[in-house]
Amino acid sequence: MRLQGKRAIVTGGSQGIGLSIAEAYVREGADVCLIGRDAGKLETARQQLGAGSVETISADLATQAGIDKASAGIAGSGRPVDILVNNAGVAFLVPFDAVTQEQFHQSLSLNVTAMFFLTQRLLPAFAPAGASVINLSSYFAGKMIPKRPSSLYSLSKGAVNSLTKSLAFELGPRGIRVNAIAPGTVDTPMRRKSVDNLPESAKAELQAYVERSYPLGRIGRPDDLAGIAVYLASDEAAWTSGGIFPVDGGYTAG
Ligand SMILES: NC(=O)c1ccc[n+]([C@@H]2O[C@H](COP(=O)([O-])OP(=O)(O)OC[C@H]3O[C@@H](n4cnc5c(N)ncnc54)[C@H](OP(=O)(O)O)[C@@H]3O)[C@@H](O)[C@H]2O)c1
Repeated sequence: MRLQGKRAIVTGGSQGIGLSIAEAYVREGADVCLIGRDAGKLETARQQLGAGSVETISADLATQAGIDKASAGIAGSGRPVDILVNNAGVAFLVPFDAVTQEQFHQSLSLNVTAMFFLTQRLLPAFAPAGASVINLSSYFAGKMIPKRPSSLYSLSKGAVNSLTKSLAFELGPRGIRVNAIAPGTVDTPMRRKSVDNLPESAKAELQAYVERSYPLGRIGRPDDLAGIAVYLASDEAAWTSGGIFPVDGGYTAG
């Protein structure tokens, strides 16, 4: 067990990539705390993980009140935090000229502000021996898809990459490692929500594009991200910090 005795916080841990990472952490012996807005989804996830060592906190991290609630709930137990996975995110794939102020605010609030301030608020709670912060970025930070307008989402994930590197530099002397995982397209509720709205012809075009573009011939499954998330959280990665790791079936190699 590579994470035995460690305590991990996974934001957006009730479904998709976050849930898959949480499952892997539990398998590796960690105690996990899942954060999301919907208490029902969190409870379902807790049951699915089937462990008494799973806590949940219902909080909207796109708000200051939610960040306060989550950080107070985490610190409240008095147990140090070894691993923080800043995974909760939202993707508005909207043409640049149609992006609303509300979408802009929501996207930046969750994808960037929550990552920034939750990490800041948890600094006193991090284990004195060191901690691992893992941020969920995206290939969209640097590579676009035809007909998938991503100015807002790409902006937020570019910020995630910059924050990851600057925090690795700034927090390294305190023994805190900071890395990001940049997935390719992964089959999760987020992805399905954005594709289900497309007209049938656009869906077919997108599918053909994916088959052409992914050297490994398919999009990702949530558990494709679990292995690297375990590695980055573990002591095996003791000298790994400031990295943005693509896990994307080879997509960004082209
Ligand atoms: N799927 C992809 O293709 C893909 C590709 C590259 C990068 N990523 C990134 O990977 C991460 C996870 O993506 P995913 O596809 O697994 O997403 P997802 O299926 O939409 O799951 C998002 C999770 O975040 C929680 N969440 C959403 N808004 C929240 C809020 N305001 N406060 C607290 N929790 C919130 C959701 O629970 P509630 O709704 O109950 O709050 C859920 O647990 C994101 O950062 C995403 O940008 C995804």
